[in-house]
Formats: sequence, structure tokens, C-alpha cells
Amino acid sequence: ETLKIFSPATVANVSCGFDSLGFAVDAVGDEMTFTKTTEKGVKITKITGANLTYNVDENAASAVVKKILVEANANFGIELTIHKGFSPGSGLGSSAASAAGAAFGVNQFLENKYSELELTKFAMFGEEVACGSQIADNVAAAIYGGFVLVRSYNPLEIIKLPVPSELRVVAIHPQIEVKTKDAREVLPTEILLKDAVTQWANVGGLIAGLYTDNYNLISNSLVDIIVEPHRKKLIPFFDDVKNAALKAGALGAGISGSGPTIFALCKGDEIAKNVYKSIEESYKNTGIDFTMFTSKVN
Ligand code: HSE
Repeated sequence: ETLKIFSPATVANVSCGFDSLGFAVDAVGDEMTFTKTTEKGVKITKITGANLTYNVDENAASAVVKKILVEANANFGIELTIHKGFSPGSGLGSSAASAAGAAFGVNQFLENKYSELELTKFAMFGEEVACGSQIADNVAAAIYGGFVLVRSYNPLEIIKLPVPSELRVVAIHPQIEVKTKDAREVLPTEILLKDAVTQWANVGGLIAGLYTDNYNLISNSLVDIIVEPHRKKLIPFFDDVKNAALKAGALGAGISGSGPTIFALCKGDEIAKNVYKSIEESYKNTGIDFTMFTSKVN
């Protein structure tokens, strides 16, 4: 009995929503297979596309499978294969895709015993194994799909948000690695009240825009005055990319998760195509290699 699944890349933060907003893309992600075995426990039999550990307790995917099998008191085991469709350290939720895919996959063999919220919690454990902290924005987006809000961490509460039908994302991944841990260390521990007001008003505006298909409101709200000013220094030519995206008609652009991937949200395929070209043009003479994609938010 073998199950094959796709686990999506995700964009966390989405400019104004540091650690609380995220969305999934359907064009990029990992493929994983799960084979039920009579022997208990979990084994990784193959990893392709990235150089990741086969150590069951250190790999985000197998650590999650193991935890769920133990918790569910399962009388079977799982053999796992992982094909990474995008690189770790990209800011596109690589470990989250592994952890969320693992939780979703093993749940299929348990007759969907666990809810999406419970699966998100298991996947957060995988995030901790991989990066040392239990952040929910990427894993929740991968589990629920579409756009999500992590409304509360304790207790964990995830709100699935609507996705306007013409919303597209264009992303560029400069081939440098930014570790989430390093990208968190550059952030201030305190912020000004007036900045907080601006930021939470934008979060509200973005969410209202999603609910009402109001692309202008979405555009005006895709602003991050708290995190981006610090983190953009870690991403070469960030401002050039952002300006290129906005000039070509993007609704907004920002850092995907902790970077270095830069995302731009767009209305419709035509504008997305122009934004893609404009970003590509802006980066091609920088001397830094990069990959790009366009996707629906799904
Ligand atoms: N919200 C996280 C951060 C992304 O920006 O550090 C990784 O989950």
C-alpha cells in the first residue's frame, strides 16, 4: 500500500503579517511517498533533490511520522521517500513542506484520525526539529492550503482565509542561503507603538481585501515597516526587485518568510507575466544565480 502526495511550498509573513500570515502555492513543492509496512517504526528509503539527513529523529518528515505513529499507537510502520522540489534555506518553507506532508500522509493511513489543527501541531514539531522553533505560518499554510491566519499560538488557532480568484504570485529565489535563525537575529525585540498601529492596520486591511476581492485594498495593505527594513539587508538587490515588480503592476512585493526569496502578488495572469519579466530583467546582470516561478495561491 503506497500513497503519493504533493506538499506545497509556502510564503510566510506576506509583508505585514510576521509569523501570523501565510499562503500555499501550487506550482512548487515536494513529492513524498508513504508505504505501509508490517514492521513498526519509520524509515527513509530515498531522498532526492536536496542533501538532507536520513536520521529519523533529525529529519523533519520522519520525525513527524514517528511522533504520530507513536501517539496513535499504530500497529504498523512507514517507509518514506522524499523528493524536494525546492531548496532548504530558500524562505519558501522547505522544512514545513516536509513536516506538513509527513503529517498529512501518515494521517491517511489512520483513517484521517487527526484534524487539520492537530496535523499543524504535529508539523510544528517537525519545524522545531529542522530549525529549532515551532513557527506555524508555513506549516499551517501547507496543511490548510490557500491563505491562512495564525490567530493565536497558545492555544493554537488557525483561520482559513478566502483567496480572490485572480490572485497570482511571482517569486524569485536568489541562490544564496539565509538561515531563519540568522534572519530572526537581525530583528528588534521592541517596536514603536506608532509602527505597531501601522502594521496591524495593514494586516486588517489585507484580510478585509481577501474577503471582499478588493485588490486595491490588498495592494495598499501589502506593506511591512517592521521586519522588511531589517531583513532586506540580507538580500542582495531586494529594492531593485521590489521596484521592478511594482513598476510592472504587482499589487505588492516583499520577503517570502525569512528570505532570500522575494515574492510579488499580482492580479491576473497577464500582469503576473509582466512582473515575471520585469523581475527577471532586474536580476539578470547582478551576477547572482536565481530561479523563478509563477503560481496560483492554492
Ligand atoms: N515567520 C517566519 C520568519 C518564517 O519570518 O522568521 C519561518 O517560519
